[in-house]
Amino acid sequence: MSSDTLPLSLPGAKSQDLLARRQAAVARGVSSTMNVFAAKAEGAVIEDVDGNRFLDFAGGIGTMNVGHTRPEVTSAIQAQAEKFTHTCFSVVMYEAYVELAERLARLTPGTFPKKALFLNSGAEAVENAVKIARYATGRPAIITFDNAYHGRTLLTMTMTAKVKPYKHRFGPYAPEFYRAPFPYAYRMNMTPSEASRACLRALERMFVGEVAADQVAAIIIEPVQGEGGFMIAPPGFLRDLKALCEQHGILFIADEIQTGFGRTGKMFAVEHDGVEPDMVIVAKSIAAGLPLSGVIGRAELMDAPPPGTLGGTYSGNPVACAAALAVLDLYEREDMAGRSRHIGEKVLQHFVSLQNRYAFVGEARGLGGMVAMEIVKDHESKEPDVSTTSQLLAAAHARGLILLRAGMYDNVIRTLVPLTITDEQLQEALTIFDDAFASIASGQ
Ligand SMILES: Cc1ncc(COP(=O)(O)O)c(C=O)c1O
Repeated sequence: MSSDTLPLSLPGAKSQDLLARRQAAVARGVSSTMNVFAAKAEGAVIEDVDGNRFLDFAGGIGTMNVGHTRPEVTSAIQAQAEKFTHTCFSVVMYEAYVELAERLARLTPGTFPKKALFLNSGAEAVENAVKIARYATGRPAIITFDNAYHGRTLLTMTMTAKVKPYKHRFGPYAPEFYRAPFPYAYRMNMTPSEASRACLRALERMFVGEVAADQVAAIIIEPVQGEGGFMIAPPGFLRDLKALCEQHGILFIADEIQTGFGRTGKMFAVEHDGVEPDMVIVAKSIAAGLPLSGVIGRAELMDAPPPGTLGGTYSGNPVACAAALAVLDLYEREDMAGRSRHIGEKVLQHFVSLQNRYAFVGEARGLGGMVAMEIVKDHESKEPDVSTTSQLLAAAHARGLILLRAGMYDNVIRTLVPLTITDEQLQEALTIFDDAFASIASGQ
């Protein structure tokens, strides 16, 4: 993070040495956005092993809503680690798991009785939601959406839409998954409400031409599609989808792994549409980066699979649960969702100003602090421009701003900044955007 936003010389010497070791020892299928190695982090800043400081607009891919190394979270982790780090909840239970289930049941939308289950990763939680939905309904089929991302395991890779790199040559995929269109208004050349209506009609047609509604266990949706490119379900779409589910006895499952915990300006994104899902899937910002995920749902559904069918050795690890409880304390004490709306407003406003200035910024869009822009050849053709996207990202990285891409066409720049970023740091980041974009536009 340089105050004059001049490009840094990256990677530094120590990162270069580590890169050489990484290349020799780590499978290349594991990719990394930045070519530097972290030494420490605090709030919205990461410092690398060469002493370069970066503003973190990635937040470990939406995991650090409460900011890096919050003392309250660190203390909770330390305190639990001193008592015990693992007993396996399936062998000897501990209170933190139960308390976390109680609190998440209260926090997720819906006043009906709920129960929870904890796992290690987002993908694992999605898999478990599918298992529970199938067992509870006795139906095999699951409907997911165009542009969806649900993970990299066999089942969730099947549910994920983008072929390269996630699915290519990793098949055959799991059976009984069907894909419905998502109202991606910008690329459908429609207004959001037209796109919603078209997608709901297409879904009803699917029940005639692809899979009978009475064979569908669940519809699983990201309220704002994350990896797909931050496409926001238009107002009313989730509500109409839920009504359609109820009509056919289909469970409505919200994948809030990326959107949850204040990211979109509400605790959960479905709250924007007043929807109460049958199950909510959480991970990422639940535990400030410790591996923890969960499924929270209607008690009768969660209790459908018999004892021994759910769980795993590390699932709901006590240190991760302790971190999550400390994180929930912070969400209760601080208006993180309000902060998310404030950050989102500033970033979106700035992105719109970049859209007005540069033909290669096709659309700026956002919900709360989940803000993105599409990079295109020009406003008229909307043709995705991957090369300019890469140049813009590189220019931002070199100026000390950690920034991620997303999108079916790899042409979306997205922001998942820790919600504890200060106004000064935010302003500094927006200045870096200006400099980076100006440098690419002028061909420097
Ligand atoms: C919406 C959504 N679902 C599922 C996943 C998979 O989570 P994980 O990487 O923890 O397996 C992600 C990860 O980015 C996600 O954004």
